[in-house]
Amino acid sequence: MDLITTLEGLVPELEKGLDRASSLEELENLRVDFLGRKGRIAQIMAQLPQLAPQDRPAVGQAANRVKESCNALFDARKAALEAGREAAALARFDASLPGRAPWRGSLHPTTLITEEICGIFKGLGFDVASGPEVEIDRYNFEALNMPPEHPARDMQDTLYITDTVLLRTHTSPVQVRTMLARKPPLAVVVPGKVYRRDSDLTHTPMFHQIEGLLVGQDISMAHLRGTLTAFVRAVFGGATRVRFRPSFFPFTEPSAEVDISCCICGGEGHVNGEPCRVCKTTGWVEILGCGMVDPAVFAAVGYPDEVTGFAFGLGVERVAMLKYGIGDLRMFFENDVRFLGQFN
Ligand code: PHE
Repeated sequence: MDLITTLEGLVPELEKGLDRASSLEELENLRVDFLGRKGRIAQIMAQLPQLAPQDRPAVGQAANRVKESCNALFDARKAALEAGREAAALARFDASLPGRAPWRGSLHPTTLITEEICGIFKGLGFDVASGPEVEIDRYNFEALNMPPEHPARDMQDTLYITDTVLLRTHTSPVQVRTMLARKPPLAVVVPGKVYRRDSDLTHTPMFHQIEGLLVGQDISMAHLRGTLTAFVRAVFGGATRVRFRPSFFPFTEPSAEVDISCCICGGEGHVNGEPCRVCKTTGWVEILGCGMVDPAVFAAVGYPDEVTGFAFGLGVERVAMLKYGIGDLRMFFENDVRFLGQFN
């Protein structure tokens, strides 16, 4: 039974070959060599017709046994090689290495300052209100004591949508909307976007304001001064000095602009002997406009003659620039993550 011996001899031979095989590719080559359609076992089986018929079944059975053994050997070796691959991959993987830190978002400085300022006024009893950015002439100008021929309506400053519809140039129209909707006493702050036809180093066509309005009985300039001083010290620190300069707004009378002692040089006018760039050595920086609500505004919203109140409006980017020492207004609009990421 020569063929049977040859067949059975294939098993130890395959075993040796498998021991040397170190990759799945080599394994596959061996498989083709032994078990393939033209492989060693197939070649032996091809000789079957030359045998006497009574000898053929024994050889066929031997071939099947050998095939089974070979398959089992392949499977075992394949499993071992795959396990080895995994182990090697795991050996390269260092579970003790620190992970990659995930990107962490942060709030935009404009948002941060807006939230901080509104939070301060909420603490003083103010509500937070809002109004539309597309506004009608009547609320943006007329009811604020700026009649049709008023120079503030100039096309140079205002972005008009139609003759009577425009992008609000300040948050003050929300004063009007609030008073039309509510009865005094009331106190609101109104954060929001405003638009002006202005674009240079220190002006952008859109920026943010926060409006304040307080209406009640016997409200005086002293209340305004006390409220704004408390606000300024909450944002810029308790040592900040505040001064009121006479000014003019059509919707307040009297009106004032508020300066604070420069938060960059501490009001000294110089930093390390160098002239302060922020206050230009004056020691003061302007931060907002304000005043006592003009009776003409109360009349426009149908409030009784006895009411009194104050209003103020501040530029959010301006406060943020002063508070964080940001020198360039454009930083707020460029969305450079290297800048924004510093406000975590
Ligand atoms: N609306 C004014 C401006 O945009 C600011 C202001 C608001 C002044 C309220 C006085 C009272 O310049």
